[in-house]
Amino acid sequence: MTKQGKVNVGVIGVGWFGEFHARLYKQLQGANLVGVCDADFQRAKVVAERLGTRAYADSEELLAEQSLEAVSICTSDQHHLEPVLQACQARKHILVEKPLALSLTDCDQMIAASKAAGVHLMVAHILRFSQRYVEARKLIQSGEIGQVRHFYGRRNNPRRAARRLGSRCGYHTIVFHNAVHDIDIMNWFADSEVVEAYAIAQSGEMEKEGFYMSDCVLSMLKFQNGAAAVMENCWIYPDTYPTLVDAVTEVTGTHGKIVLDFRNQGAISYTNKGVGYFENSYWPEIYGLVSGDLHQELEHFLHCITEDLPVPVTGEDGRKAVAAANAIVASLSSGKPEPVK
Ligand SMILES: NC(=O)c1ccc[n+]([C@@H]2O[C@H](COP(=O)([O-])OP(=O)(O)OC[C@H]3O[C@@H](n4cnc5c(N)ncnc54)[C@H](O)[C@@H]3O)[C@@H](O)[C@H]2O)c1
Repeated sequence: MTKQGKVNVGVIGVGWFGEFHARLYKQLQGANLVGVCDADFQRAKVVAERLGTRAYADSEELLAEQSLEAVSICTSDQHHLEPVLQACQARKHILVEKPLALSLTDCDQMIAASKAAGVHLMVAHILRFSQRYVEARKLIQSGEIGQVRHFYGRRNNPRRAARRLGSRCGYHTIVFHNAVHDIDIMNWFADSEVVEAYAIAQSGEMEKEGFYMSDCVLSMLKFQNGAAAVMENCWIYPDTYPTLVDAVTEVTGTHGKIVLDFRNQGAISYTNKGVGYFENSYWPEIYGLVSGDLHQELEHFLHCITEDLPVPVTGEDGRKAVAAANAIVASLSSGKPEPVK
């Protein structure tokens, strides 16, 4: 920690989302951004220059910094394992973007390595830091809606999101990139975990555009405590759709219901360019500073380091979401309900 009580932190992988992490560490009072790195060194240099920090040649060079205490790992979904293991080896605390990994073997390696190194491993499931999701969970935990019986979860995008990602997590990238958000929230709300999944997919539209990936996955999930869920993840909305994320979470209990509707927050513009929803609770920019759920997430991560507190989203939580995602993909291949392993 610096003399000013700031955590010395770096970012590995500064593509689209890693740059947000780096910007936040630059602005947060509790952080000192030591530097960034990326497999694309030119990209690291561009981001470092914008933020007035150092671009390291690679993750090994960044992690070799003695003063460095923590890293955000924002490499693409399929490239989390290596930097996480390197950071554990170097004994740095870790905030790793979701999904923790694509396979349970990788998840287990990361969890074991972080425990052996005695470092925090927090998985960046951003919805856990959204005021509305946090309030909903409190309400559920208070017993006000009774016993949770079923969920409806939806996280859909216009096609530009699918095009940007491509099939980085295989044919059903949407499950690992989008559905894990909903799975983690439903596990958290149900205070349970998914034990069985049945899913069907639709394809053709992204393939017509030359992308080998499904358009939409519809899943039915069973939880250990008897709760159930219907989940919709699609990314073939037209590019004219007025928001990047169309998300809804509904929770039905034996005594009540909670609806979290992130489609249209009442902030709509109608101009000659079209219709736009400009509400953004995830990472809005206010007077040049990054705010919102991502801000809360990184602040919590730093807080857990300085106060040596357990992280709110653990490697085990991340693993449970990946386990359910794998069962969904297994069901898509077998055409039958599949148990979570
Ligand atoms: N929580 C959220 O809401 C949210 C939103 C967007 C992205 N994400 C997550 O953030 C991560 C990054 O996504 P993105 O959209 O920025 O992807 P991206 O493709 O824009 O950026 C990934 C970057 O990682 C770099 N990289 C890959 N392997 C590397 C390695 N071994 N070492 C260093 N750099 C490496 C790439 O060169 C690239 O610049 C993903 O896991 C994604 O799921 C989360």
